Amino acid sequence: MRLGVLVSGRGSNLEAMLAGGIEVAIVISNRAGVRALDVAAAHDVPALVLRRSDFADAGARDAAIATALTDARVGLAVLAGYDQLLRPSYFAGFGGRTINVHPSLLPAHGGPGMMGAAVHRAVLDAGDAETGVTIHQVTSELDAGPILAQARVPVGAEDDPATLAARVLVEEHRLLVETLRSLSGGDRSAPRRRNGA
Ligand code: GRF
Repeated sequence: MRLGVLVSGRGSNLEAMLAGGIEVAIVISNRAGVRALDVAAAHDVPALVLRRSDFADAGARDAAIATALTDARVGLAVLAGYDQLLRPSYFAGFGGRTINVHPSLLPAHGGPGMMGAAVHRAVLDAGDAETGVTIHQVTSELDAGPILAQARVPVGAEDDPATLAARVLVEEHRLLVETLRSLSGGDRSAPRRRNGA
């Protein structure tokens, strides 16, 4: 199964995938100059930058992402720290599956605005005793697609968003590699899904 990875920033999940022996056919970033692009270059993975400002609107950019994935014969796209909602033109144009890694136990602490430190702050504000990681299928509704895998992470009394994020990130890397290995192992028999259907 050929993998495409969408990124926006640091790229530690991409790095974990590559370190874990997961082959990546193409990396697509919506931002130039981000560390994730350095990670791709260091591993000789072809990368593309498709910025919103280079297109008439976000829908046109997302159609271009779909075209790039299709041209690279990608069967599974992974959102690894990708910070944009994918518009319907993406799902119309890309026939493979798309999955996302989210740093909480969805459906808790997902949806609009729930990214990065905001997620961990929400967990602490809610007084949750545990948080975790969710890997889910991406649909046009943010953080709401079918859940494929979850891992639990305890919340400590002394935690702040940064310490919690660091503990969760270790599990993100582990669970993402594990899930991708099992998805590619079952590739031939797995049904092709589109837009969460
Ligand atoms: C991760 O916490 C991921 O769960 C979230 O954004 C962060 C990206 O980290 N979606 P990185 O770019 O993979 O280092």
